[in-house]
Amino acid sequence: MAGAADPAGTARDYAAVLRNAVVRFGSFTALQDISLELEQGAFWTILGPSGCGKSTMLRLVSDLVPAASGEVSVLGKSTEEARLAREFAFVFQDATLLPWRTALKNVELPLEIGRRRNIKIPVSDRSPRELLKLVGLQGREDALPRELSGGMRQRVAIARALVCQPKLLLMDEPFGALDEMTRDHLNLQLLQIWAETGVTILFVTHSIPEAVFLGQKVLMLGTNPGRLREIVDIDIPSPRAIKVRDTQEFTKYTAYLRRLLEAD
Ligand SMILES: Nc1ncnc2c1ncn2[C@@H]1O[C@H](COP(=O)(O)OP(=O)(O)OP(=O)(O)O)[C@@H](O)[C@H]1O
Ligand SMILES: [Mg+2]
Repeated sequence: MAGAADPAGTARDYAAVLRNAVVRFGSFTALQDISLELEQGAFWTILGPSGCGKSTMLRLVSDLVPAASGEVSVLGKSTEEARLAREFAFVFQDATLLPWRTALKNVELPLEIGRRRNIKIPVSDRSPRELLKLVGLQGREDALPRELSGGMRQRVAIARALVCQPKLLLMDEPFGALDEMTRDHLNLQLLQIWAETGVTILFVTHSIPEAVFLGQKVLMLGTNPGRLREIVDIDIPSPRAIKVRDTQEFTKYTAYLRRLLEAD
């Protein structure tokens, strides 16, 4: 049954489980037979040609598009239950901050919405101020989005995503619009946040080096129809420093993934 919770609860140890999940838009099959088990606490990255269904995969997990067939569960719940329980949060390429609210007020927004609607939502052990510190924005709490750089705005969006203590963070090319140095810096910071919070991360990118640097596994998707071609284990120990990218091992992975991409 599409979107059904796992009755035996075996999927609870996983942040997300997909079994033969299919997504259709009318007669077009965007994703064909996707099966995977994303362990809690893992950091996986998703690569694939433009239009192969990377964003659709995150949207499927986050209850934004339904499965036409197959099963999808998040923390052992249906995607709808997981959404209502704030089990996951989404970070997009564009930070989507409210321009009239300060950085701090943007981070506080999900909590405010919960209070206003009188719904009980999980709250991070870390205060919005502490979360801004975690993303390196201490001292910029009162800045408006227009006073912040693109990288800083993206960090505010990450702090906001963490405010309801999600177990799963879905990130769709969050650093895609940033220059390389800023991206490197935020990659390192994200690895640190991942290690400190234990959050599970599913991260879409167009950049092969970014996928290898961040991911414990890289999911390589293919087109026509959108499908999971291969899951590549990245056996590079954590914590990873930027200089790991100069190693032969790293280059071996990027070369392999580039060949896979070109073969699609
Ligand atoms: N709401 C929708 N209605 C119809 N078709 C859609 C819809 N959303 C996505 N698609 C189609 O599904 C396919 C996958 O789209 P998706 O956005 O997931 O690709 P992507 O891998 O994220 O691409 P990109 O790398 O360019 O972001 C595309 O062919 C797209 O046109
Ligand atoms: Mg996309």
